[in-house]
Amino acid sequence: MPRKRLAVFISGRGSNMEAILKASQAEDYPASIALVVSDQADALGLQTALDANIPAFAFERKEFASKAQHEAAIVEVISAHDIDLICLAGYMRLLSAEFTERYNGKLINIHPSLLPKHKGLDTHARAIAARDTKHGCTVHYVSEEMDGGEIIAQAEVSILPDDTPDALAARVLVEEHKLYPSTISKLCQS
Ligand code: GAR
Repeated sequence: MPRKRLAVFISGRGSNMEAILKASQAEDYPASIALVVSDQADALGLQTALDANIPAFAFERKEFASKAQHEAAIVEVISAHDIDLICLAGYMRLLSAEFTERYNGKLINIHPSLLPKHKGLDTHARAIAARDTKHGCTVHYVSEEMDGGEIIAQAEVSILPDDTPDALAARVLVEEHKLYPSTISKLCQS
């Protein structure tokens, strides 16, 4: 079966993109990254993608007159690269209903909490403040509602008595780097 073609959307560091890239180097991995899109021209992950010879493009919102025009440029590059699945990986910009509906069932995200708990930002600090004992990450389909689409898979970590947001984030990130590639693999085999 031909490998599924992934587009990975980033805004910064791109460590989840790198985890997908590493996983895809295995011969039997059913997908490969065919395109990287960033909304930040200085995103570190863009260089990682270019170093791996992956087509990588920055579309900064300020270069476009409207959100619709910004997304239209992104749709164009997705169409040109024959993409099967779009994976948001630290892409910190809300997508319009038009965009999420266009790619319904082909657009997923990884979020650093056990959704539906702690949608939005600062999830690790909020999980500690809420005195949760469990935290983690979620891969979900993207809908118009922020962090609200159907849940596909989750990984848990325990919150320790003296945890800090940074220490907890680091442990969750380790799980993200396993959960995202394995979930993509399952989706691309079905
Ligand atoms: C990851 O922890 C990801 O779950 C989170 O941003 C980080 C990106 O790191 N995403 C969100 O908060 C989306 N709402 P990375 O650029 O190193 O993959």
